[in-house]
Amino acid sequence: LNYHVPRTRREILEVLIKGLHRLEYRGYDSAGVGIDGGNAKEWETNSKNIHLIKQTGKVKALDEEIHRQQDVDLDVEFDVHLGIAHTRWATHGVPSPVNSHPQRSDKNNEFIVIHNGIITNYKDLKKFLESKGYEFESETDTETIAKLVKYMYDNRESDAITFATLVEQVTQQLEGAFALVFKSVHYPGEAVGSRRGGPLLIGVRSDHKLSTDHIPILYRSCDAVIEHTNRVIFLEDDDIAAVRDGRLSIHRIKRTAGDHPARAIQTLQMELQQIMKGNFSSFMQKEIFEQPESVVNTMRGRVNFENNTVILGGLKDHIKEIQRCRRLIMIACGTSYHAGVATRQVLEELTELPVMVELASDFLDRNTPVFRDDVCFFISQSGETADSLLALRYCKERGALTVGITNTVGSSISRETDCGVHINAGPEIGVASTKAYTSQFVALIMFALLMCDDRISVQPRRREIIQGLKVLPDLIKEVLSLDEEIQKLAAELYQQKSVLIMGRGYHYATCLEGALKIKEITYMHSEGILAGELKHGPLALVDKLMPCQNALQQVVARQGRPIVICDKEDYETIKNSSRTIKVPHSVDCLQGILSVIPLQLLSFHLAVLRGYDVDCPRNLAKSVTVE
Ligand code: G6P
Repeated sequence: LNYHVPRTRREILEVLIKGLHRLEYRGYDSAGVGIDGGNAKEWETNSKNIHLIKQTGKVKALDEEIHRQQDVDLDVEFDVHLGIAHTRWATHGVPSPVNSHPQRSDKNNEFIVIHNGIITNYKDLKKFLESKGYEFESETDTETIAKLVKYMYDNRESDAITFATLVEQVTQQLEGAFALVFKSVHYPGEAVGSRRGGPLLIGVRSDHKLSTDHIPILYRSCDAVIEHTNRVIFLEDDDIAAVRDGRLSIHRIKRTAGDHPARAIQTLQMELQQIMKGNFSSFMQKEIFEQPESVVNTMRGRVNFENNTVILGGLKDHIKEIQRCRRLIMIACGTSYHAGVATRQVLEELTELPVMVELASDFLDRNTPVFRDDVCFFISQSGETADSLLALRYCKERGALTVGITNTVGSSISRETDCGVHINAGPEIGVASTKAYTSQFVALIMFALLMCDDRISVQPRRREIIQGLKVLPDLIKEVLSLDEEIQKLAAELYQQKSVLIMGRGYHYATCLEGALKIKEITYMHSEGILAGELKHGPLALVDKLMPCQNALQQVVARQGRPIVICDKEDYETIKNSSRTIKVPHSVDCLQGILSVIPLQLLSFHLAVLRGYDVDCPRNLAKSVTVE
């Protein structure tokens, strides 16, 4: 954050802390800020220092720590003031103040740096720096960057070296994926950011009262910037962006003739209220209840229910090529992977192509053969998941056509794929994904429909599905009205140790996804089981204490207590079970959207009853930008 208008330190810190709060859902084991020390006069007389304040736990703990600091005068006013801040989700070293960012070059905080991503050659760099006498205090890979920048500064060839050039030299030594922001006592009033494989954007705000002043803010996501400005510049890999005295300059690392980056200011369509909780107790609950609207937003302007057509603007230049391909590969992680599992059957049916559904990490581990005539889909809510992004680059290198199914405009996956579909579900903040799943589901169904729009034989089926999509929002509302009933069920179950969820065919994905939701936020053991496999092993787990969903007869015969989620027109099942949650009937391939919602609600209520923070489950982060 770089202000070029008079502000007190308190105001600067408030902006930084608020920004961290907005990002907290992504990683929250510790946080830190680095701001100018001293008072305005000292800055002018060149006796500079940086206050570094870091704390484990939530951003609130950092805020309290700031107010505990005796030597941080909050009321001192600066004309130019610059601070950097960070929330961390540990990848190297346990959460602790010393491992939090900003990381520093030395005890005098000459250079500080914040980092998202991973530096793969940090051990070599560390060894080199240790041989030069540097002592490391943290277990992070980031600390090597802070030390390296000081080393390069101390060994600079010319005194006139700019901060941007220095950062450029440092960045050239780094391997891995990163977004970095540096600050230094040697370059007061200036911050420099660089990125490779990690997102970094700059918020630009003009203060109209002081018309010449701009407040560029470097951020790693839109969520933190949106309450200050909706005007942003997305940096590209190998951009170096310097913000100084309220002015911004960008250059490329490998400067070649004519390589002057023109980075347009883009306007974000996101509203602050969209990322606020409203009347709900958590973002997850809000997002579950948004699903009647979020699926409409996914279909808006794309599905014509009158003449049963589907248009996907992001695929139109490539659809012919996709129709000619030899197989479709869906690659994703977590919930996004389940969206691939959920739609595989209908994709196979309507495209008549082989469809592979792959977990990104496993796909890479196996060095899976990929060919030029493959079409690879990358399904990712955030568009930043490292495993999915690496798999995307792997497929691109092998010449496959790549398609992104993301919820985040401007994300790495949406920019690096050849074409794609934005699911338009709106920001999803709860770590446990809900509305993104149902929107990914709908987006993949729309794709399947588009693939067969000129095949006469499938038109009746297409019409059936499209008409199913038309009523879907109302059916979702009907499922959501079961909330109270599900809350009561949760009250009966929340002290159990384990929940097995069984289903087959279109519902297998629902079971996997329901079990993932329960694991993520309730910390109960839960497993999604393909009902056909029950007799081959999992049946041994069933006893009279084990709550189960579905796979009826075998479970009942072992005194299991099945709770059945079923189509309310499935009279046979209802007749045979003591406990049912009845969801409305839909087209077979869409039924999974309706049957997953009771499990989203169940996991939510179980977590609340067990006393856990629904939006911030332990050990998990919304967006996993490391392998
Ligand atoms: C993390 C989140 C999951 C999410 C997965 C994939 O593990 O906790 O909720 O499903 O990443 O994220 P993506 O953004 O690629 O869909």
